[in-house]
Amino acid sequence: MEYNIAVLSGDGIGPEICSGAIKVLNKVGEKYGHTFKFEQLPIGGYAIDTCGDPLPDFTVKKCLASDSVLLGAVGGYKWDNMPGDKRPEKGLLRIRKEMNLYSNIRPAKLWASLADASPLKPELVKNGIEIIIVRELTGGIYFGERGAGQENDAEYAWDTEKYSVPEIERIMRIACEIASKRSKKIVSVDKANVLESSRLWRRTVHRFAEENYPDIEVTDVLVDNMAMQIVKNPAQFDVVVTSNMFGDILSDEAAQVTGSIGMLASSSLGDTKCGLYEPIHGSAPDIAGKDIANPIATILAAAMMLRDSFDLTEEYNAIESAVAKVLDEGWRTADIYSEGCKKVKGSEMADLIVERI
Ligand code: IPM
Ligand code: MN
Repeated sequence: MEYNIAVLSGDGIGPEICSGAIKVLNKVGEKYGHTFKFEQLPIGGYAIDTCGDPLPDFTVKKCLASDSVLLGAVGGYKWDNMPGDKRPEKGLLRIRKEMNLYSNIRPAKLWASLADASPLKPELVKNGIEIIIVRELTGGIYFGERGAGQENDAEYAWDTEKYSVPEIERIMRIACEIASKRSKKIVSVDKANVLESSRLWRRTVHRFAEENYPDIEVTDVLVDNMAMQIVKNPAQFDVVVTSNMFGDILSDEAAQVTGSIGMLASSSLGDTKCGLYEPIHGSAPDIAGKDIANPIATILAAAMMLRDSFDLTEEYNAIESAVAKVLDEGWRTADIYSEGCKKVKGSEMADLIVERI
């Protein structure tokens, strides 16, 4: 089969990590008889500099026409003082919205050989951690009404968190589908003791599960408590469903608990098979161009694309096993390095994974 993949490398370490993932996909193609065609398209700061827009229309068109999208990262110091609409991040938010990618899956997994990289005490991580964060991605405060003004000599600004029942139901359906194949337990995170939108969220997730997935158990956890529980006892969680902003924050926390944010991949999907796959980390401008960034998150994102958009499960497994092998053999990029391991550059890490496929 031939697959057309749009590649939005973006800014900072984006191009380095995407090239690692492309090498891996090419090796998978060679081995399993697929052709992956890559088309590089501008997004983020790079697109602002070259096209005057963080998401040019032709990038959107080509992404929608592709079989799936691989994304690196967006943002950097250079564009930090741009107005909201001209920021690199706006490009990422818009592509998610234009492709209607309301479901963002972020699996935070502790790899056996990386237990040392977790900042938590060994007894908290010894039985492994795997939290599947299901983050709503096209609603909430990220996309709500906003504004700024001047009142009584003071400048003010505001954003709004708004969720509708259909928006909550469709993300809950995804969480239920995932949980059905796992523990059948879902933790729903909200702030229902304060926010009206969270109270609707809470009512809706329970009603939806009772009506459609009666064997799934839904438990509510307030977001502040959740932040604490993730460091107190992360192994208690399996599938977690939450809003756009809470999911953003909690997935960084879960990533760090499992060793490094450089290891976590994510898929973003809507109602079609054409999705967007990216690492959950950002563009890390401080280390860009030094070839020290960990490409594993992006490589695992590419693997998720094979499994979730193209139904290539065997190929997904081949990449995941190659990553596990490299880690078991003691190869480490700087972010996951601990004494006694073998430190390698980002590109070397990608090559090591390619060799093991
Ligand atoms: C992420 C990032 C983005 C987000 C930013 C870059 C807009 O932090 O994917 O987690 O907040 O969703
Ligand atoms: Mn984030």
